[in-house]
Amino acid sequence: MQQAAPNRPALPPEIARRRTFAIISHPDAGKTTLTEKFLLFGGAIQMAGQVRAKGEARRTRSDFMAMEKERGISVSASAMSFDFGDFRFNLVDTPGHSDFSEDTYRTLTAVDAAVMVIDGAKGVESQTQKLFEVCRLRDLPILTFCNKMDRESRDTFDIIDEIQENLAIDVTPASWPIGMGRDFVGAYDMLNDRLEIMDRADRNRVAESIKITGLDDPKLAECVPANLIDQLREEIEMARELLPALDPKAVLEGHMTPIWFGSAINSFGVKELMQGIGAYAPEPQPARAEPREIAPEESKVTGFVFKVQANMDPKHRDRVAFVRLASGHFERGMKLTHVRTKKPMTVSAPVLFLAADRELAEEAWAGDIIGIPNHGQLRIGDTLTEGETLKVTGIPSFAPELLQGVRAGDPMKAKHLEKALMQFAEEGAAKVFKPQIGSGFIVGVVGALQFEVLGARIEQEYGLPVRFESTQFTSARWVSGAKPAVEAFAARNMQHMAADNDGDLVYLTRMQWDIDRVVRDHPEITLSATKELM
Ligand code: G4P
Repeated sequence: MQQAAPNRPALPPEIARRRTFAIISHPDAGKTTLTEKFLLFGGAIQMAGQVRAKGEARRTRSDFMAMEKERGISVSASAMSFDFGDFRFNLVDTPGHSDFSEDTYRTLTAVDAAVMVIDGAKGVESQTQKLFEVCRLRDLPILTFCNKMDRESRDTFDIIDEIQENLAIDVTPASWPIGMGRDFVGAYDMLNDRLEIMDRADRNRVAESIKITGLDDPKLAECVPANLIDQLREEIEMARELLPALDPKAVLEGHMTPIWFGSAINSFGVKELMQGIGAYAPEPQPARAEPREIAPEESKVTGFVFKVQANMDPKHRDRVAFVRLASGHFERGMKLTHVRTKKPMTVSAPVLFLAADRELAEEAWAGDIIGIPNHGQLRIGDTLTEGETLKVTGIPSFAPELLQGVRAGDPMKAKHLEKALMQFAEEGAAKVFKPQIGSGFIVGVVGALQFEVLGARIEQEYGLPVRFESTQFTSARWVSGAKPAVEAFAARNMQHMAADNDGDLVYLTRMQWDIDRVVRDHPEITLSATKELM
């Protein structure tokens, strides 16, 4: 098991065995398939195929909506816990859609590492690159899985070069593929000098592992076709010479990524990757907070909300707040303080997400994700403690990139619409702005698909048909500065001013020129494109 950093005390074993991570990838690279195999080897599902529905559902928009209807499925898939060897893995799902980058960003604040899945034929694709940049902002350790090696893929050195160049990270091969496409036989485990031979007959069977003493071991010839042996020896020799050796510290610092080659659908390379997560991904890490950092080994429980999912059961209007425990040992029934409102909160029905089922959590440790059902008290960015006033930081809200006006189909239902919009805003599904002049609301999103999803959900969950209409505004900036200066600025720019769903002042912009003008003419005012959530 991994060593604690020299300046940190050893963690209690229950915390030290936790690995909380997300998978980042471009659509179709194999995230769903890999997740399924994780769950299979983690003993959380009995057979492959159970999470399949989700991957398929995501493909088309209408299916995506159907999935949203099946809130239960998407929720239980939002965070999954399972054991693997001595480890407890918490896999936090990142939303698959490229539209939901803000949600994804927040999800990545709840994990200590990421597994990057790339398609061996396609290499680093756009969405992977974007998500990688987000991980880099937080120096998240990244482990790479190069998938679909059973298909024609690119040259191994090419793939590694591309990652090194596009993502500016050192890559060290943890395994080396032998053959490719039809000729793919398996991989050489560079870390343990083992041969892993793929079983093509049974996709759910784990590869056969053959211990060898190195590349000169005669056993090699028994398992690898003669035409591939020389190539393998040559490539591994070159790899050892040209590529950096595994440096666990560099991995933890996010400067190096080990790469495993495999085929998720054939269960190949997945166990080695899981062992790699145990060995090289970090233990639960301290959380940034004000006025002090929170260390996982602290005996008192703290946690923060990184995601809220509303209307899981439309009849009850309940919500589940996803809380990452930052420290301590949580037990069901604990009374925690909701720092934003300073109110006590008894957490009597917390939920742990064990793959397909939601289960009542009797206990949880730092690093775990629990779901807390509530009626709207818990918002994204909220901190829970055992009394101390601490606020976890670094959970941002981004300025929307698309704005539209929204009206209720039935004008008499304007109040209902407001309520629905506020609820979605708290869930983080959209930004809602109330302009100072005129009636109605402006909704802001990051990707266009969100408007459609939002419209469909308002109709479905609130029985309220809505109309979106274009507005002259294209983006919004949060306004800050000394109070009198802000008030004077707001009074002079009434037609641009609005309040966001937390009541904070924003300046609605039509084009970059508007922002440039404020920056030039109003040095006393600061406009920002992100806001730290409470
Ligand atoms: P995603 O969640 O990243 O979008 O990818 P997903 O796992 O859904 O996989 C995308 C497609 O790639 C699926 O095929 C899946 O079966 C296939 N796939 C995943 N891993 C491997 C692999 O190791 N080798 C090969 N050859 N294919 C793989 P599909 O045709 O879209 O779906 P399906 O009909 O197979 O379910």
